[in-house]
Amino acid sequence: MNITVRVWRQKNADDKGKMVTYGVENVSQDMSFLEMLDVLNEQLTLAGDEPIAFDHDCREGICGACGVVINGIAHGPQVTTTCQLHMRSFEDGAVIDVEPWRSGAFPVIKDLVVDRGSLDRIIQAGGYISAPTGSAPEANNLPVPKVDADHAFESAACIGCGACVAACPNGSGMLFTAAKITHLGLLPQGQPERDSRVIGMVEQHDHEGFGGCTNIGECTSACPKGIPLDTISRLNRDLLGALAHGDA
Ligand code: SF4
Ligand code: FES
Repeated sequence: MNITVRVWRQKNADDKGKMVTYGVENVSQDMSFLEMLDVLNEQLTLAGDEPIAFDHDCREGICGACGVVINGIAHGPQVTTTCQLHMRSFEDGAVIDVEPWRSGAFPVIKDLVVDRGSLDRIIQAGGYISAPTGSAPEANNLPVPKVDADHAFESAACIGCGACVAACPNGSGMLFTAAKITHLGLLPQGQPERDSRVIGMVEQHDHEGFGGCTNIGECTSACPKGIPLDTISRLNRDLLGALAHGDA
């Protein structure tokens, strides 16, 4: 395939930034999107130009580090992570726009790399348990209803990629926050901090400049891990409960 990519180039946080057009030839359909960017970067480096900065780590869809907006869609046309998107999803001759996550809470550091430290600070505000974990206990010592275990596991699949924020017209981080609250709040070990957790994490979410949730649902459509929208309803129920308990 021969393609054209229009990539957001921005030298640093203060630079205005602009889209720059590049041609990439002999792209294999089996390449991942990031491998295509590797090829483009090799091309740029050999020509003496600055390679495009982009984030990645595992390239297996598990770390959450990668993530760009491709043709206006967070992580691109398939519901998966950018590293798991393959070039076979595009036509030969395609013109592909590549931009960083766009959100006030994710300032651009350089090119396609944004600072997602705001998500880390939401976790620091309550995404933990105080129960001493010690060595691995016998699995059935602490019975957990299967339905709760399944929902907790579903929420724990959130990789913190931030696509939900990038996709949301409000720039809300509620799906991420709700996933973190749910995966701990459904398990016995998560109960001691259940109220302070939801209050602390929601306060931090708002403090970081994320928008509020108005149930649009773009977040869940873009989520590569299929975190459902009703996870946010659970967060709201937990928050109301915590406020009623007088933990505000
Ligand atoms: S909820 Fe989904 S889209 Fe949002 S950070 Fe977690 S995995 Fe990414
Ligand atoms: S590089 Fe780890 S999820 Fe994409």
